[in-house]
Amino acid sequence: MKTTGGTDDQKRRAGERAAELVEDGDVVGLGTGSTAAYAIRAIGRRVADGLDVRGVPTSFDSRALARESGIPLRSLEETGEIDLAIDGADQIDTALHAIKGGGAAHAREKIVDAAADRFVVVADPSKAVETLDRAVPVEVLPDAHTAVERDVAALGGEPALRRAERKDGPVVTDNGNLVLDCEFGPIDDPNALAAALSGVPGVVEHGLFVDLVDAAYVGTDDGVDVRRRDR
Ligand code: A5P
Repeated sequence: MKTTGGTDDQKRRAGERAAELVEDGDVVGLGTGSTAAYAIRAIGRRVADGLDVRGVPTSFDSRALARESGIPLRSLEETGEIDLAIDGADQIDTALHAIKGGGAAHAREKIVDAAADRFVVVADPSKAVETLDRAVPVEVLPDAHTAVERDVAALGGEPALRRAERKDGPVVTDNGNLVLDCEFGPIDDPNALAAALSGVPGVVEHGLFVDLVDAAYVGTDDGVDVRRRDR
């Protein structure tokens, strides 16, 4: 599992505090990444103490960790409603728009996180920014990647096919697709860019999460900074 920025203690504080939000009977979206993993393990410990929950994993890794942690699972297909989703982020701005997909799991993450009544991001302080400016991961159908690269360039972006680290060739997502990391510089209007990327044929899902996050739990060196979205 990849790790980006921050310390393990900051991630642990964020994840464990968010896990306290889970209530008996909840269906919980289980996010991907090193910070969400702390939440999954903490929920598992609460299940061992008698908490009755069902988890909906967002990736191969979150499913495996949830199983190992003893959390009963449901697929998204089987689950009508999700009460709470807890997930990490690669960047989150002051309006709580986020960039996700550093682990290439953003398509399933977005479906689960958007389906939840409440979506809480868990992060370390290195992820919190004024304006989003990381490359936006875009999952694409394999055959469409060159066409999408052209369309992303026409939108002012610089796409780069994500390469695997311990395999020749590209990263292949849990859904069998490819990922383009698209540099746009500072993103002043995340809503407009999200809509434009969603409109490109061949794009399965992009990692801009706009107007989806209800609260961000940012773990610090001595606690958790809780930020809530103004509605
Ligand atoms: C997975 O694709 C991402 O969206 C992760 O949620 C994100 O990369 C956060 O991971 P860390 O908590 O490991 O930084």
